[in-house]
Amino acid sequence: MVGYKSKVAEQIHLPSRTKRERALEEAGYNVFNLDSEDVFIDLLTDSGTGAMSDEQWAALFRGDEAYAGSRSFGELEDAVADVMGFSHVVPAHQGRGAENVLYGSLVEEGDVVPNNTHFDTTRAHIANQGADPVDCPVDDARDPAADGPFKGNTSLERARAVVEEHGPERVPVVVQTITNNSAAGQPVSVENSRAVREFADEIGASFVIDACRFAENAYFVTEREDEFADASVADVAREQLGLADAVVMSGKKDGLANAGGFVATDSDALYESCKQRAILYEGFPTYGGMAGRDIAAMAVGLREAVDEAYVADRVGQVQELADALESVGVPIYTPAGGHAVYLDAGAFLSHLEPEAFPGQALVCELYREGGVRGVELGSFAFPDTDRPELVRLALPRRTYHREHLEHVAETAAAVLERREDVSGLEIEEEPEMAEIRHFTATLEPTGSS
Ligand code: F0G
Repeated sequence: MVGYKSKVAEQIHLPSRTKRERALEEAGYNVFNLDSEDVFIDLLTDSGTGAMSDEQWAALFRGDEAYAGSRSFGELEDAVADVMGFSHVVPAHQGRGAENVLYGSLVEEGDVVPNNTHFDTTRAHIANQGADPVDCPVDDARDPAADGPFKGNTSLERARAVVEEHGPERVPVVVQTITNNSAAGQPVSVENSRAVREFADEIGASFVIDACRFAENAYFVTEREDEFADASVADVAREQLGLADAVVMSGKKDGLANAGGFVATDSDALYESCKQRAILYEGFPTYGGMAGRDIAAMAVGLREAVDEAYVADRVGQVQELADALESVGVPIYTPAGGHAVYLDAGAFLSHLEPEAFPGQALVCELYREGGVRGVELGSFAFPDTDRPELVRLALPRRTYHREHLEHVAETAAAVLERREDVSGLEIEEEPEMAEIRHFTATLEPTGSS
């Protein structure tokens, strides 16, 4: 049962097929280049794109814009202490700003950092310190068809192999991303977080949790981990996050805000070093690159994120989209993630080789067919890796309704009907850094040049 109603409405419209065709061509078959006005249902990301509550809008008005000692920052400290259990907070303009502050304090050149799976910006910030980010997913994580309650878990076996190869002195920190965005938004069990905690203690490393989607993760734990069957989402969140020495957070996800992020820790020493680095890159430690009003809204959002009715509806809506897609025969990564459904583009467009970018071809067809924008997470976004060809349909929080989800399923079904006619794509122009090419590269249908 949805625990909210709409108070503000934004008009959206579906451009004509001719307009969509033209927009796609002008965008170089890269949907990052589309104007959002030309998009009907925007499932590009769940980051900063959700609807704030009336309480959050009220908090915006009360935001304290003082450079130092802002009251709004005090509200954030209280929310982080209550919801996450940490006493120190270093605010940042968004998650990647917090990553820069934290990893710049913890990681040195030549280090190696295991993570269940690094998100792109995490990988980039660790590499930027001269360190080597290594993914340690469980075996099933990259198998779209495998079933399992916690496919986002860290493989301790892989993490141990990293330490054996490089020595514990080169591994200052072990990271765990919950939910595991780059592994189809799959959850991590508390049991697995405990095992990573023990492992970090064994090798004398810090344990960091990337908490972007901690509330969605906690919801899955209450549903799937026996020990927590009777626990509240708020209790699980505190239990799981409390295992870490620090959390790094994008408020644009489970902070239910449009901007913002932070590092939180109980360690006085880590707090001090993050604070000094934050002054350099983000701002004075009581605003950290955010307006006071945005901090105030995020403080309210953090509390709302662990509300049982909210989070059950949130994760339930993603499941509803997965069910609607499966009912019309669309192949998806199973089980559905906490923030997104990932389409199995390799199975959907099985006549296309990875070199013809089946995921990106599917992204383009979803837009052409129904004005739906998703994002490719396959061989276009991750060149030279052996990942499955996935397309992510991420649901912004509290934004779309059942009719929108039905439209997405009908759109995918229509593409499925004519899938054999879908041609592949080739790159026309790409930037120098291959790791981030999917944001700006342009493509064209194969054989068209
Ligand atoms: N960590 C994870 C797991 C993320 O998913 C993201 C962002 C970040 C860190 C960085 O946070 O965007 O506030 O700087 N993910 C977005 C996405 C962009 O679409 O998945 P940020």
